[in-house]
Amino acid sequence: AAYENIQVETDGAVGIIRLDRPKAYNALNAALVDEVGHALRAFEADDTVGCMVLTGSEKAFAAGADIKEMQEKSYADVQREDFITDDWEVLTHCRKPVIAAVAGFALGGGCEFALMCDMIIAADTAQFGQPEVQLGIIPGAGGTQRLTRSVGKSMAMYMCLTGDKIDAQTALQAGLVAKVVPADDLMEETLKAAQKIAGLSRPVVATCKEAVNRAYETTLSEGVLFERRAFHGTFALEDRSEGMQAFIEKRKPEWKHR
Ligand code: HXC
Repeated sequence: AAYENIQVETDGAVGIIRLDRPKAYNALNAALVDEVGHALRAFEADDTVGCMVLTGSEKAFAAGADIKEMQEKSYADVQREDFITDDWEVLTHCRKPVIAAVAGFALGGGCEFALMCDMIIAADTAQFGQPEVQLGIIPGAGGTQRLTRSVGKSMAMYMCLTGDKIDAQTALQAGLVAKVVPADDLMEETLKAAQKIAGLSRPVVATCKEAVNRAYETTLSEGVLFERRAFHGTFALEDRSEGMQAFIEKRKPEWKHR
């Protein structure tokens, strides 16, 4: 497919989506979000892909929803469209892992987009923020919800109520990102993690992602029960036999379900 606002490529078993609207710091307009949704669905359906990476440019992951586009909308418009649209949520429905590789600005919807991914790897240049209050709105794509679950109440309140940006090191301390790397190494380091995941047994990875996500959707006792049953389920896989056999024979496993 030919896209106008993103670039799509694969690196081995990793599908890469690069936000590419340089004239607006990758501001997330409807066309861009629609293209991201399309590309994600294509990678989901592609059996050769085991993990996805969502990234932006050196300067910006994304500077948020497109303010020029939002400015035109009335209450009736956003209510009718249920803005943000379902396209934004495609990220949260992916069964394959998605890693956000963030350099530069991840603001507003950009920060929220990164938070919809399964983990964030940040360049030391990354800046995260929820500046919506400065526009007279509040976050609308999980900034008051996913961010709070990620960094806790105090930091989420700080970010959402002041609109101040936080740098990569602060984001690391807060648990918003998994890892901070030098900007020049961002793609290499992210691809290393992505290749590692893509090289594992697909059903095991999908099950593990599902189990971690349950922690956000249910009580601890239900989550632990879900985990235990899912864990039991892995014992039905040939890949489970292979993984343990390979360990005992001191060799690399050869996963069947790749
Ligand atoms: C539309 C944007 C934009 C945005 C930047 N641009 N962010 N256009 N929507 N979110 C455009 C500018 O208008 C400008 O276009 C060009 O990109 C360069 O931006 P500058 O401001 O001139 O650059 P700089 O001084 O370097 O500042 C960079 C910046 C700043 C810190 C990222 O642009 C900024 O604060 N942007 C807005 C961030 C924000 O408020 N995001 C939250 C949006 S609300 P021209 O044509 O002048 O060159 C949101 C709600 C989500 O995300 C809710 C769910 C949908």
